[in-house]
Amino acid sequence: MVRLYDSRKRILVTGGAGFIGSHLVDRLLEQGHEVLCVDNLFTGTKRNIDHLHGHPRFEFMRHDVTLPLYVEVDEIYNLACPASPVHYQHDPVQTTKTSVHGAINMLGLAKRLKCKTFQASTSEVYGDPVVHPQPESYWGNVNPIGPRSCYDEGKRCAETLFFDYHRQHGLEIKVARIFNTYGPRMHHADGRVVSNFIMQALMGEPITLYGDGSQTRSFCYVDDLVDGVIRLMETGPEVCGPINLGNPSEFTIRELAEKVVGMTAAGSELVFRALPEDDPKQRQPDISLARATLGWAPETALEAGLERTVDYFRALLPELSS
Ligand SMILES: NC(=O)c1ccc[n+]([C@@H]2O[C@H](COP(=O)([O-])OP(=O)(O)OC[C@H]3O[C@@H](n4cnc5c(N)ncnc54)[C@H](O)[C@@H]3O)[C@@H](O)[C@H]2O)c1
Repeated sequence: MVRLYDSRKRILVTGGAGFIGSHLVDRLLEQGHEVLCVDNLFTGTKRNIDHLHGHPRFEFMRHDVTLPLYVEVDEIYNLACPASPVHYQHDPVQTTKTSVHGAINMLGLAKRLKCKTFQASTSEVYGDPVVHPQPESYWGNVNPIGPRSCYDEGKRCAETLFFDYHRQHGLEIKVARIFNTYGPRMHHADGRVVSNFIMQALMGEPITLYGDGSQTRSFCYVDDLVDGVIRLMETGPEVCGPINLGNPSEFTIRELAEKVVGMTAAGSELVFRALPEDDPKQRQPDISLARATLGWAPETALEAGLERTVDYFRALLPELSS
């Protein structure tokens, strides 16, 4: 899309070399904006933004959001944070710092620039929910001292900071609670269920299920998610969120494993392991608010999204094994 200079925005995306961030960067560039992608490449990779090398409206800056950032932009999307348990539990103190100090630094920048700021929050703020499906009004059931707490409580504190900057400094904020998202450019070794199952199937290994596989998840395809994120950013100042973004269609983990095996024609057997501590048994978004406020609902069927994800990992395999 060609955009005249006066309607073009300069947009900061933190975590822009990550899975969701890189798709968001692509979409913003397609819309004709300038994008400054800031990432410390902890879980993100240059491969995710390689295709943008030399793009006249794209800039990459290697930077850790726990440190102050001085740039001039019109909007901020704050996505920087490791999102999978294997990565966020690797250095839990750094995970909390990334959420909390990262939010303080981005909000401080937004306050100086008087620009609106998006926060990628998470369904993990609901913890192991006792309300099902989870509406935004549910306050959650979170263990403050467990192995997942660095992520869950870090994200909860970031939400608090966003709403305090809004109340105290009049900052325009947009908080989305993102539920399980999948698609091309997910980290191949993030231990998340979709990438795990696909990698195991493509390598002809048995597929590992934790528990008996009856726990349910909902999976949102990344293109749908990015669409919701941008719609939220485009709302007027009266809309702050939090707004759930996810796919309410539920599947059991076992059903997902069987779909992946069918799609890859791998013939992998399913093996069962003990459930990790604090693993939520059931999680499903209530997206009534997103439907009403943003006119948004996911459109990509699980099969279609899985096919594209399997294709991505299939193409990635030779690179990983070289
Ligand atoms: N993928 C999901 O299902 C999901 C669900 C809920 C919320 N989210 C949130 O969405 C955001 C993006 O998640 P993702 O799945 O793309 O994960 P990801 O790990 O692929 O992306 C996160 C990016 O942030 C970068 N990063 C991490 N710490 C940083 C730091 N201190 N400074 C600068 N960059 C840093 C990483 O290198 C990576 O590129 C995260 O905030 C995550 O919490 C994701």
